[in-house]
Amino acid sequence: MSESDRPMLAWLVAELWGSELVAVHGTVLRPAELPGFIAERSRRVVGLLTYQLTGDMLEIVTLNAIERRAGIGTLLIEAAASTARHFRCHEVRLTTTNDNVDALRFYQRRGFRLAELRPGAVDRSRQEKPQIPRTGDYGIPLHDEIDLTLQV
Ligand SMILES: CC(C)(COP(=O)(O)OP(=O)(O)OC[C@H]1O[C@@H](n2cnc3c(N)ncnc32)[C@H](O)[C@@H]1OP(=O)(O)O)[C@@H](O)C(=O)NCCC(=O)NCCS
Repeated sequence: MSESDRPMLAWLVAELWGSELVAVHGTVLRPAELPGFIAERSRRVVGLLTYQLTGDMLEIVTLNAIERRAGIGTLLIEAAASTARHFRCHEVRLTTTNDNVDALRFYQRRGFRLAELRPGAVDRSRQEKPQIPRTGDYGIPLHDEIDLTLQV
């Protein structure tokens, strides 16, 4: 990701997440201002990962594969893990939501372990960001945050 990508990223994040802001573990972040990786195929954006470094931990803030089941998510996770090792981090961490069973499967298949459950965290974030839907994937009521970690 380079500085010239940032205006496009702000638009892309809003398309993918319904807002330029994401609410996670009680904080509100603007992913287009964070470091990250863009996956491109034939000069077309097909994936995006943003992260922040906190102490000895790399936190993935957003991950999207625009073309699914083509290996893009895996490549972006590998890029994040490699970046974490480069910065001598011991852990890659991310937050997902209780409805995102596809992501829970995807991350656990790639070595992530369940680390923390925050019941009602999404309900609390919804008070700050009313665009957060009440119903998530597969019609599951959207309430809770789940953290996963990967040791690197
Ligand atoms: C979760 C997410 C990032 C996964 O990305 P993805 O690019 O679809 O993931 P991959 O293609 O790398 O892997 C998914 C599956 O497709 C398989 N796959 C990869 N390339 C394939 C191919 N060419 N043919 C068939 N299957 C393939 C992988 O093996 C994997 O299956 P496995 O887990 O059983 O090994 C994506 O579904 C997504 O963007 N979801 C919406 C946003 C979201 O929820 N993000 C996470 C928020 S925490």
